[in-house]
Amino acid sequence: MPRPDLPAPVRRGDRVRLQIETLCDGPDALAHVDGYVVMVPGALPGEQIRAEVTSAARKFGRARIAFVDESAPERVEPKCRHFLSCGGCHWQHIDYEAQLRFKQARVEKDLRWALGEHAPMVAPTIKNRSPYGMRHKIALQVLPDRRHGMVPAMHALRELDLVPLVECPAAADKPLRLARAAIELLAELRVEAWDPLEDRGDLRSVLVRTSEATGHSHVVIVSRFDLPEVDRIAQDLVSIGATTVSSNLNDGPESRLLGTRTLHVSGPDRIDERIGDVHYCISPTAFFQTSPYAAGELVRLVREFLACKASDVIADLYCGGGLFSLALCGHAREVIGIEESPVAIADAEAGQRRNRVRNVRFVRGPVEAQMQRLGAGLPKPDLVVLDPPREGAGAEVLQRIATLRPRKVAYVACDPSALARDLRLLHAHGYAAKRVVPVDMFPQTWHVEAVAMLEPIQS
Ligand SMILES: C[S@@+](CC[C@H](N)C(=O)[O-])C[C@H]1O[C@@H](n2cnc3c(N)ncnc32)[C@H](O)[C@@H]1O
Repeated sequence: MPRPDLPAPVRRGDRVRLQIETLCDGPDALAHVDGYVVMVPGALPGEQIRAEVTSAARKFGRARIAFVDESAPERVEPKCRHFLSCGGCHWQHIDYEAQLRFKQARVEKDLRWALGEHAPMVAPTIKNRSPYGMRHKIALQVLPDRRHGMVPAMHALRELDLVPLVECPAAADKPLRLARAAIELLAELRVEAWDPLEDRGDLRSVLVRTSEATGHSHVVIVSRFDLPEVDRIAQDLVSIGATTVSSNLNDGPESRLLGTRTLHVSGPDRIDERIGDVHYCISPTAFFQTSPYAAGELVRLVREFLACKASDVIADLYCGGGLFSLALCGHAREVIGIEESPVAIADAEAGQRRNRVRNVRFVRGPVEAQMQRLGAGLPKPDLVVLDPPREGAGAEVLQRIATLRPRKVAYVACDPSALARDLRLLHAHGYAAKRVVPVDMFPQTWHVEAVAMLEPIQS
């Protein structure tokens, strides 16, 4: 029950007993103290815990578990020593099968809220190949260290503060090994970690992406200024398995991962990734799904649902580097991919050449503007795939899709609440979701991807 204008019944530092009620949309679980919301990471519904209050604002408080008096059956031992101090994972205390059920329930809840009786069936979450070791893209920050010069680090949960990193079981071995090696090499050369508070040092982070299927990997060294001897570091990294090395200059705020200037140092401009029998060309700073296995599951679901005919034209909106366009074009007459990032479009076109396919057209620009050309200059699509950013596609794009009257729409989403809002709008425009399938792109976290499969409502 809301407590308008009442002061918080707890204060920072208080010890409280909590009965955990549910998992939140975020890293926490939720409990109440006299009607006041307290959020606790690392807890599970049904658990009774003792906790220390870490903040007590007027609307809600936060607490940290001190002791679990009664644990839930889903509780397991976290695999990583940094769990809950590092911000990279939130659910290592939950058995993997239960994580999948919680993700399915979260999607169901959001869809029911937005669509009520029109909410579609939500299938069980498609699991990742393994609960650990599936992140093929990682970013390690750096911390100054007296003994080693600097050490790898990760952002703390919800903070810009860094925690030194000894292990990361969520990451695949190779990107972790390459990122650590790069940091060690730079420390040997006496490069200093950037300290934003003291405003000294250069190195901000090291980003690595690897492909299991092709063995390719790129390393991006992110620093404030040009680093000395980058060529030598690149040679050493190549000798231990990097195929492309780049340097990115970033003098922006702490929260910014990459700056705008990327200098190619060694190897091909892009690495080659393969999903199924399709090759993708990925630039060092481009978006590409973190788990190639789960990306393959997204492609499979979209392809099965669309069941393209050889005569079909497909529009792939927010196409990025062509994940869906390049996988679908072998089954259709033509695919038109629309994307605003010039780097992603260049990657998509490189992928088109790499796969030697001719029936794909990549159009650069905002979807909102470029999709007006579909059916007016560009062919009218029979099928639509859309994979918008976190905030969803929004009213203008959805209305335009409905006006084009495609036979089917596959909506790929990384935020269930944005998906729910957009499905509600699509429903109002005459498209109903028949089925939604969650996919576990990020095991050990609360994040969930989902594919919604829509068809025109028959009147
Ligand atoms: C979630 S990613 C999906 C990319 C691709 N489908 C994939 O799975 O690799 C969303 C993409 O939308 C692009 N984007 C964001 N807003 C856009 C807009 N208004 N118009 C066109 N593209 C946009 C981003 O650059 C990004 O590549």
